[in-house]
Amino acid sequence: MPSEIIGIGLAVLDHLMVVPEFPSQEGVVNSTQYQIQGGGMVATALVAAHRLGASTEFWGRVGDDENGHIILKELKSNGVSTSQMQVVSNGKTGVCFVMVKATNGERAFVVHSQKNLFVDLKSLNLERIKKAKVLLIDATWHEAAQQAAHFARSHGIPVVADIHDPSQPSLELLGLTDYAIIPRQLADVLSTKGDYTSALHNLKSRNVKVPIVTLGHQGCTYLYQDKVFRHPAFQVQAVDTTGAGDCFHGAFCFSLTRGLAVPHAVTFASAVAALVCTKLGGRSGIPTYEETINFMRGQGAKA
Ligand SMILES: Nc1ncnc2c1ncn2[C@@H]1O[C@H](COP(=O)(O)OP(=O)(O)O)[C@@H](O)[C@H]1O
Ligand SMILES: [Mg+2]
Repeated sequence: MPSEIIGIGLAVLDHLMVVPEFPSQEGVVNSTQYQIQGGGMVATALVAAHRLGASTEFWGRVGDDENGHIILKELKSNGVSTSQMQVVSNGKTGVCFVMVKATNGERAFVVHSQKNLFVDLKSLNLERIKKAKVLLIDATWHEAAQQAAHFARSHGIPVVADIHDPSQPSLELLGLTDYAIIPRQLADVLSTKGDYTSALHNLKSRNVKVPIVTLGHQGCTYLYQDKVFRHPAFQVQAVDTTGAGDCFHGAFCFSLTRGLAVPHAVTFASAVAALVCTKLGGRSGIPTYEETINFMRGQGAKA
């Protein structure tokens, strides 16, 4: 039985270290906390959507190495179906070293990219997408994402995308996306007038139905029914903002499966993302649906 949300994209292993300050050039800092947690945009989004109550399945790739098997086990234990996942022999799983600033939860990444994860696209079981409610993609396996997004669109399944870079393949994916939720770094590149509104309009002109730009602790801005909206971030004591965007995507996908209108989905996703920031790593702070609703009510938001 296909899941409500199908995700194609990145799974890595995050090595998180909390530091008082980022080290200066060639400097040394002592970390006060160290943790290993599964990460990656789509993989973490699916963990979030599942914790909220949706069935999810991950179509990404890992290597047949120790890290790959840790990722696989963690996804399973978080309820994400791995039946369509690709474990590639001789492939190398990606690893991410995350430095988290203790004072405000800001983070810096060192990425060791996955290698040799060759998979024949014919192995993608596209027919499953017909029965899903949402397809979530990032641009890390763009050939697969492109095929799946084409298929989803031609069958009326909404496509949500997490795109970070302005490369040609990534921009092509935006052209197949209904809900593009992008970070400020890409919005800065797409902006034609140095503001987020022109970035939103640029996305719209690329065929995106609803463009959303997330702005970290400043919340997000989006274009919906020809109007630009701004949604502030919920106020929390941020310990680590790793995974905030990923979980925003996951919660947004969950909201779509439950038929929420975009403004309500944005509020819900912002609440989930804020709660994620209250714990170390992208996954340990992911709330349940009830916890999110209680938090929203406590903050005076309409839940
Ligand atoms: N310090 C924070 N406090 C509360 N919410 C936050 C904070 N940082 C991020 N968020 C929420 O998470 C969303 C995504 O964060 P952002 O940093 O823009 O994405 P990414 O993690 O992809 O870089 C924001 O729109 C906001 O709702
Ligand atoms: Mg992100």
